[in-house]
Amino acid sequence: MAGLTSFDERHGDGAARPAISVIGTGYLGATHAAAMAEMGFDVIGVDVDPAKVAALSAGIIPFFEPGLPELLQKHVASGRLRFTTDLAEATALSDVHFICVGTPQQRGSNAADLRFVDTAVEQVARALTHDGVIVGKSTVPVGTAARLQRLVSLLAPAGIDAELAWNPEFLREGKAVGDTLHPDRIVLGGASERSEALLRMVYAAPIAEGTPVVVCDLPTAELVKVSANAFLATKISFINSISELCDLAGADVSVLADALGHDVRIGRQFLNAGLGFGGGCLPKDIRALMFRATELGAHSAASLLQQVDEINMGRRQRIIEQAVEALGGSVLNRRIGVLGAAFKPNTDDVRDSPALNVAAALHLRGAQVVVYDPEAMDTARRLFPTLSYGESMTDAARGADLVLVLTEWTEFIEADAAELASFATSTLIIDGRNCLDRAAWESAGWIFPQTPAAVDAQQQEIVGSRTTRARNIPAIAAS
Ligand SMILES: NC(=O)c1ccc[n+]([C@@H]2O[C@H](COP(=O)([O-])OP(=O)(O)OC[C@H]3O[C@@H](n4cnc5c(N)ncnc54)[C@H](O)[C@@H]3O)[C@@H](O)[C@H]2O)c1
Repeated sequence: MAGLTSFDERHGDGAARPAISVIGTGYLGATHAAAMAEMGFDVIGVDVDPAKVAALSAGIIPFFEPGLPELLQKHVASGRLRFTTDLAEATALSDVHFICVGTPQQRGSNAADLRFVDTAVEQVARALTHDGVIVGKSTVPVGTAARLQRLVSLLAPAGIDAELAWNPEFLREGKAVGDTLHPDRIVLGGASERSEALLRMVYAAPIAEGTPVVVCDLPTAELVKVSANAFLATKISFINSISELCDLAGADVSVLADALGHDVRIGRQFLNAGLGFGGGCLPKDIRALMFRATELGAHSAASLLQQVDEINMGRRQRIIEQAVEALGGSVLNRRIGVLGAAFKPNTDDVRDSPALNVAAALHLRGAQVVVYDPEAMDTARRLFPTLSYGESMTDAARGADLVLVLTEWTEFIEADAAELASFATSTLIIDGRNCLDRAAWESAGWIFPQTPAAVDAQQQEIVGSRTTRARNIPAIAAS
């Protein structure tokens, strides 16, 4: 950096630490800001939402993320972390500006909506009062950062050395604090020697723990993030397509996944067959990648991702059909207890939640749906105000003709199955996440609708023994 107000000139000797601004304080930004404060930096979080800024300033995290409230309160109290809506002030006080705003799916398209990223980068570049590094953390389509780099050099005030680098984020909701403090890897894309040194200073703590740093160009950094998500999504859709085969062939997909997972080349994670993925990242990221791959002419990548998306969305439809079939062909005026609203456990995030999607579809078909989730009741109510909500598992199961388990919360897995059964009208249950100990729940009186292969096997058994036992177990057709 050649500007008159470089980091060294502002901070004197090499012992100083860069001051940090974090633009956008949602799931990613609030976590990143608190983690940076924990690593010893002075941090200012900026958001356009005054209510969010007020909540964070008061030490309140407006979403559920284990461990984050404690970290936030600790550093708001220490004075190392504060929040504002004043981006110009935050920019003037900082050296490294992390861009953490949303990149949702565009309405009516698979492409990412880049308005927030464009605006945030533009605002920071214009507001620079001294040299600085703008560091993109948001997930963006490949090519975005190079465009923003040109924008920054056009917009930065004369005499100020402004750089842009990309440092994609890999945190998992529910484990965001640990993932940010102790990341698997740090990817630095498009950083000059000088900004790389500054970022190595920012990430000194995880680097000292042995976290690998991958230094690369901008397009590689952008693609690492979306490729990681695409790979995980593909793994989930793979096991879900195999599970369909298992259902038809009479195999047990959970045992199969365990056996596959013992192979270190494969690994057991992301091999849980069930309702598939959702949330604020995976679905929109694979669609944006599909869109960008098509734009660039990478058709095999685009068609692979299309298939992954189709298999995933088909899982939701399949559970809906299973519910309809389990209730004899119609859910109209039938009471369905839905356990789970969050897109996965340990979060209250209901963005593109498969659980809520299924609950809403059954509600639209005339079912009386009662949803319960340990943490996501408020976010679910805001998104689907027309659904009914219970305050407990018992509320959801009370009087139910069918119970669906759609998010694998520990509370559901460890529930007293016999006690819950005593509240239901019918003890039919569909385990949309394959998370329950089926034998234990069956011995507590719950009935899991059967797959065609299981029904065939039963019929053969019945014919073979020439018995005519009446069985009250609904069959489920594979879709
Ligand atoms: N949530 C995750 O687990 C996660 C993980 C890795 C990467 N990401 C990526 O991080 C980005 C942010 O995701 P998120 O889940 O935190 O989104 P979010 O919607 O929770 O938060 C975005 C925040 O940015 C604010 N904002 C928008 N424009 C702004 C501006 N000009 N100035 C200041 N604030 C502004 C919004 O008010 C909002 O609070 C996305 O690109 C996402 O794909 C998210």
